[in-house]
Amino acid sequence: MDIVTENRRPAVYGRQDIIDMLSIRKEDKAAVEKLKSDALRMMEERVGTLVYYRGIVEFSNICMLDCRYCGIRRGNSNVEKRYTLAADDVVGAALWCAEQGYGSVVLQSGQRQDESFIGYVENIVRRIKTESVSDKLPEGLGITLSVGEQSLETYARFREAGAHRYLLRIESSNPALYAKIHPQEQRFDERLECLGRLRDTGYQVGTGVMIGLPGQSIEMLADDILFFRDMDIDMIGMGPYITHPDVPMAAEGMMDRDDLLQLSLNMIAAARLALKDVNIAATTALQALVSDGRERGLSYGANVTMPNLTPKDTRSGYQLYSGKPCVDESREECRGCLLGRVRSTGRDVGFDMWGDSPHALAKV
Ligand code: 5AD
Ligand code: FES
Repeated sequence: MDIVTENRRPAVYGRQDIIDMLSIRKEDKAAVEKLKSDALRMMEERVGTLVYYRGIVEFSNICMLDCRYCGIRRGNSNVEKRYTLAADDVVGAALWCAEQGYGSVVLQSGQRQDESFIGYVENIVRRIKTESVSDKLPEGLGITLSVGEQSLETYARFREAGAHRYLLRIESSNPALYAKIHPQEQRFDERLECLGRLRDTGYQVGTGVMIGLPGQSIEMLADDILFFRDMDIDMIGMGPYITHPDVPMAAEGMMDRDDLLQLSLNMIAAARLALKDVNIAATTALQALVSDGRERGLSYGANVTMPNLTPKDTRSGYQLYSGKPCVDESREECRGCLLGRVRSTGRDVGFDMWGDSPHALAKV
């Protein structure tokens, strides 16, 4: 057989190519190895080998939404304590992150749309932006927000305050599946419109899906990747769907963990191959399935990971799913642990850099 032909990657990955990649089973060692090496080669060519950190502060678990899968949904009265960190603590965590050389921070919380919340977030973003300026970071930390669906005006206020990236997962790009996992008042169309608003406000836009949802097919996941491409998305954060015992969807169960892990890794590789120059996160949820889950994500083409900066005493309040890692560790412990994990894959961390995706930078 002609080796060149055998190793060639399609210039454009079509729906069937993506379905084939997602269908690879862990027992098929040759197919797994080819998928990994294709994805890593694409990564090296298009985004390089550095891994970028996004220090994440989960600053509030108060949420007005009632997603049927999520541990911090409004309707979960078993959440031990609803909290919102003091602004000084969020800013302090961000400045710690800057000192460590993590060039970017992600501020994430449940969704609220009231003015006191919006003003609080705006103020924090503005403070981090100014207070994190240093010789190492002349423009301060890169700031990503992940605070849900908001109006165009609110997105613009946050943008103006200094956030330049925004994460809003579509959760599933299939409207019927979206409707199944959310209450009726949470509309797919609204989420879609929010992604448009974010683009219009000038953010680098990140989205993603949960993998292995009850009722989700391989075809739907392939369509999720095509959705990311059609929406011209700059960054992807996807992870396995893991049941939380106190939510309505717990009764529907979850996929076999080994199969779910392989499917999640296949999604990372397929997204890398189909989307090429975007940033893709090796998400924390991967590590809930297996202790080296994030390293595995990196070895399938991911180039971003998110050290947890949430103060240790509030971490346990932000359990979106069961078995979330790092709940009992401090940010100092995670720092050493994660660096070891990244280096174990033979890669290095892009310290003191924002690490924007080439896909996003090409638009400027
Ligand atoms: N399993 C995996 N991911 C979850 N998320 C929420 N609940 C779960 C769960 N049970 C994800 C959603 C959300 C992100 C912050 O966490 O995709 O967008
Ligand atoms: Fe948090 Fe390893 S990264 S304990």
